[in-house]
Amino acid sequence: MVSTTQKTKETIKPHGGELINRQVKGQEREQLIEEAQSFPKLTLNPWSLSDLELIAIGGFSPLTGFLGEKDYVSVVENVRLENGLVWSIPITLPVTEEEANNFEIGSNIALYGEDNHLYGVLNLEEKYTYDKSKEAQNVYGTTDVDHPGVKRVYEKGNVYLAGPIQLVDRPKHDEFSDFHLDPSETRELFKELGWKTVVGFQTRNPVHRAHEYIQKIALESVDGLLLNPLVGETKSDDISAEIRMESYQVILKHYYPEERTRLVIYPAAMRYAGPREAILHALVRKNYGCTHFIVGRDHAGVGDYYGTYDAQELIAQYEDEIDIQIFKFEHAFFCTVCENMTTAKTCPHDKSKHVHLSGTKVREKLRNGEQLPKEFSRPEVADVLIKGLKQN
Ligand code: ADX
Repeated sequence: MVSTTQKTKETIKPHGGELINRQVKGQEREQLIEEAQSFPKLTLNPWSLSDLELIAIGGFSPLTGFLGEKDYVSVVENVRLENGLVWSIPITLPVTEEEANNFEIGSNIALYGEDNHLYGVLNLEEKYTYDKSKEAQNVYGTTDVDHPGVKRVYEKGNVYLAGPIQLVDRPKHDEFSDFHLDPSETRELFKELGWKTVVGFQTRNPVHRAHEYIQKIALESVDGLLLNPLVGETKSDDISAEIRMESYQVILKHYYPEERTRLVIYPAAMRYAGPREAILHALVRKNYGCTHFIVGRDHAGVGDYYGTYDAQELIAQYEDEIDIQIFKFEHAFFCTVCENMTTAKTCPHDKSKHVHLSGTKVREKLRNGEQLPKEFSRPEVADVLIKGLKQN
């Protein structure tokens, strides 16, 4: 962990200064739903629907809609919006050329989910084509289609639709409704709890011992921990959000102080963009009201596409500007001599004494029907995972 200074501000400002809210309510909502009946229709896949939701609830503040071409080019090339504000991942709405021809600039488009429910409206300001290999190379660091994020880039439509959005209904996430809070609500929650400093933790895996170790070191120097697992689309071999959510509740119940931890879903799709995604993850958690964010080993990485500390190195370049403070952690492992979680910074013992763990290893062991040793996972978590995977 590199930085330990505390922020003691009352509340941290959202990215760009204002928490965006594009949700329409009451009379205005009724009217928009009525009008939308006559708008041309577009069905969003779960990925785009989750982007729509995050824009509308302010998770992606300062974005008020899907990126126009100038912002898009600026983000891809310079890790900034056109106005200079740091932004690392283009939030765009891809459609096929054929679909794009149905929509006229200046018109409104009714945005439906795959469940045929009307979720929102896009006021179409622009449609533009883009360079897929450039997006892949700059955002994901590779054009290899075996990379799950890059694969998506090449699979999606050739045209981006852009413009401000409005949300008439929030996607439900029924199964996680107890843990579904918007950034304005987590900000309120932190105030009620009296937390002035809050560390956000992103994960797409069950919490293993290394996660727990770095979370708790962070929690030693801040008031609260927001466990904020990503529950949107992930690659098919990741453990499902339903099983993970159960495992998070179990580990929090048995091993974390109730008054200093909260579990809230992050309803986004996983990009696996490593360093660039670490920046997005930090900005979003700032919008949720976190003052600190954890970036450990190979954050948001996949396969061998990124170096262990690439994400930490990239985010360090923007740390002064993004305001949220980054807790950077060394690769953590279990040392059988120390009989504890540790890192190369604190453990003097030979490598042969170390048990290395990662989400990938946890998944591998579970799929092979192997027990998860206590050095990997709390037994209560292992039980939930084994049971959950058997049922799937
Ligand atoms: S991901 O969203 O970043 O892909 P993952 O669950 O793999 O999720 O990791 C969550 C966070 O824990 C990330 O910041 C990651 O860098 C960190 N992390 C995971 N395993 C370790 C480890 N063994 N040592 C240190 N940090 C780790």
